Amino acid sequence: MSKVLKTVAKLRKEASRLKIIGRSKIKTKKELVKRIIDEGGNVYKTLNRSVKRKTSRKRRSVKRKTSRKRRSVKRKTSRKRRSVKRKTSRKRRSVKRKVSRKRRSVKRKVSRKRRSVKRKVSRKRRSVKRKVSRKSPVSHKSGKHTRYEDIINAYINGDDKAINALTVKRRNDVLHGVTFHGTKFGEVEKFKTCLEKSLGKNWAKRILDPKDKLNVNGVKRLGVPGRQGTTIGLEVRCCGSASCKMYAIKVTRKGTSCGDGATGGMGFLKQARMQQLASEYGVTPPVDAVYCGGKKDVSFMVMPVLAHRLIDVYKKGSTLSEKHQKQLWDLYKILDTKVGIVHNDINCLNIMIDSKDNLKLIDFDRSKVIEKKDIKKRGVYINLNFLELVNCFRMYGISPGEGLVKNFLRIHGKNDDFLKKKGVTFKGASSFMGYVKPLRKPGIVAWRDY
Ligand SMILES: Nc1ncnc2c1ncn2[C@@H]1O[C@H](COP(=O)(O)OP(=O)(O)O)[C@@H](O)[C@H]1O
Ligand SMILES: [Mg+2]
Repeated sequence: MSKVLKTVAKLRKEASRLKIIGRSKIKTKKELVKRIIDEGGNVYKTLNRSVKRKTSRKRRSVKRKTSRKRRSVKRKTSRKRRSVKRKTSRKRRSVKRKVSRKRRSVKRKVSRKRRSVKRKVSRKRRSVKRKVSRKSPVSHKSGKHTRYEDIINAYINGDDKAINALTVKRRNDVLHGVTFHGTKFGEVEKFKTCLEKSLGKNWAKRILDPKDKLNVNGVKRLGVPGRQGTTIGLEVRCCGSASCKMYAIKVTRKGTSCGDGATGGMGFLKQARMQQLASEYGVTPPVDAVYCGGKKDVSFMVMPVLAHRLIDVYKKGSTLSEKHQKQLWDLYKILDTKVGIVHNDINCLNIMIDSKDNLKLIDFDRSKVIEKKDIKKRGVYINLNFLELVNCFRMYGISPGEGLVKNFLRIHGKNDDFLKKKGVTFKGASSFMGYVKPLRKPGIVAWRDY
């Protein structure tokens, strides 16, 4: 029997002892207890329980309640505290964060400032460096370390490392250091107005049209329109100059690249710069102006006019005078040992004679500044080694002359017997040498008379 039923049975017994009316109908324990207490019975005695227990129960329940309350209060307070704590800590943290954010942003700003200052300084330093390095080749003849003559002489005299100085950077510095009349492009406007005055607004179109005879005073066509453009002679008296001077103006079509030579092999500006460099040593006339039209416009280049083409002076079957043989030799030798550029277009039409009967080279369209790799591949005398390519001799029937041929063979390590064995004579177009392997450092390039 369960505990509750036992208690109920006990309570029923007590109810029957007290003779409570309607006791059989009372069903719940609670009602029984109530009726027994009402009839004066003792429930605690009946159930063998003490009053203490009740009170203790009450107390306990009260305690429980209070402790529950306290706990809940505690909990609440602790919750509150915690929330307060949390809030404060949150606040603190956010404050901290804000502060640290501020600090960091300040730091960042400072470091940014520092960096920008650093950058500026380093930029300045670099630009100064660049300027210095660019400046040096301007004094192309005097700058000790960039002077080609010193580098190549040191190399010829046994310092193999000397040509390490012939870097791409040096090449670009040399190119960027070139100026025309002290400016980047020279007297462009002067010649533009002069061209307009002589040939009208359409001057470029007229020059580039081979059918237009240019029958204008002070203007004449020079040579034949070449690979790159057309060259005309223009008298500059028309511009109001005191002296009457004739200029040669090479005009090229729209779309000619204005490359400066630093980024690519070809370029109109590069061509002018190369000619200007070579002119410092008397190899070619100087450049007075260069205009780069690029994709939008024609380009042109101005230089003093030269009197004759080589092929106009020397007819078929004639031989170069000894003076001209030596001069031709020296022109290429100067390029090899002083200027430091390869002409790269050794062609009879690019050899001219000036009004004082001196040979000059023109057309530096394909020229380039000599670099270490060029010397490694072709030796020191790159231009001289190409002398055999001068097609005057084969194509135009002009004999190069004994001196020129023998000197050429000398730098290739061949003596006169070589010619005898080959059965080569010096008269006529077929007399010039065939291909002979160049020596890297011949050291015997001084002209020798024969
Ligand atoms: N300074 C000059 N004086 C006289 N004639 C020149 C001059 N420059 C060029 N010419 C003439 O123009 C021709 C073509 O010039 P060039 O520079 O060789 O152009 P291209 O690159 O078309 O060969 C030359 O063969 C020459 O007859
Ligand atoms: Mg040419």
